[in-house]
Amino acid sequence: LNHLLSIEGLSREMLTRILDTAVPFTEVAEREVKKVPLLRGKSVFNLFFENSTRTRTTFEIAAKRLSADVINLNINTSSASKGETLLDTADNLAAMQADMFVVRHAASGAPYLMAQHLATTGQDHIHIINAGDGRHAHPTQGLLDMYTIRHYKQDFTQLTVAIVGDVLHSRVARSQIHALTTLGVPEVRVIAPKTLLPSGIERLGVRVFNDMKEGLRGVDVVMMLRLQNERMQGALLPSAQEYFKSYGLTVDKLALARPDAIVMHPGPMNRGVEIESAVADGAQAVILPQVTFGIAVRMAVMAMLAGA
Ligand code: CP
Repeated sequence: LNHLLSIEGLSREMLTRILDTAVPFTEVAEREVKKVPLLRGKSVFNLFFENSTRTRTTFEIAAKRLSADVINLNINTSSASKGETLLDTADNLAAMQADMFVVRHAASGAPYLMAQHLATTGQDHIHIINAGDGRHAHPTQGLLDMYTIRHYKQDFTQLTVAIVGDVLHSRVARSQIHALTTLGVPEVRVIAPKTLLPSGIERLGVRVFNDMKEGLRGVDVVMMLRLQNERMQGALLPSAQEYFKSYGLTVDKLALARPDAIVMHPGPMNRGVEIESAVADGAQAVILPQVTFGIAVRMAVMAMLAGA
């Protein structure tokens, strides 16, 4: 593994290896162990061209607990605002002896472009981690979601998992679908209105439901998605109330899933739009453990890329 750009194309063995590698790092994520020296002397650059709370912060925590030096480029005050290109920015940070770039960008493919550029300029010793590119992929979110499912449900091969909401604009959903199908989940359902589903989504090996109540029946895991309003330029947006009525996860709708079903959400949540507070804060929600597991999974990915 030189870069982590997408889950698509990674084998089941590789996904399992990443999840297994993350297990001992949960002790660091939970502060039972303060730090490990695996990335001592390495420089990790966080390049977030789009906003983030969880991903940026947990990457910083993960890198620091691996003893790396962490540089957070503030994009708003960087020379990107003066028109410096992504690739010129990459070259200049490479000249500062960077070892790893963690990249979030609104444009699908931006981390691929950087990886290709570093390869052609002989700088592909710098590892790139995609921290979310447009509507394409968010691989570490997909991995931490798989870690969470395995933690609570142990065996992927007996599960029915539902992904609910704005699949069309969601890089998280794409990464989740690739991970779940690769790890052997026999039934992956997507539940959404037709207008929020990409055409041909069935080709990814999922079952499509437009009726949320039908789709939730008997599922083991419910993975909620946010309405990605920022990616819907010009589209006719459903009102929050209309959307909540049909696709909001309420206590009543959750009762259709298995009684031991877990509820996940990558965050940020819009309470009262895709999820009711009683569910988000309820006994079946594992939304905050997802965040903590994210530290361990990101430590695992960085350690593996660095060959540590
Ligand atoms: N899940 C996720 O990517 O959250 P942030 O946008 O806060 O990083």
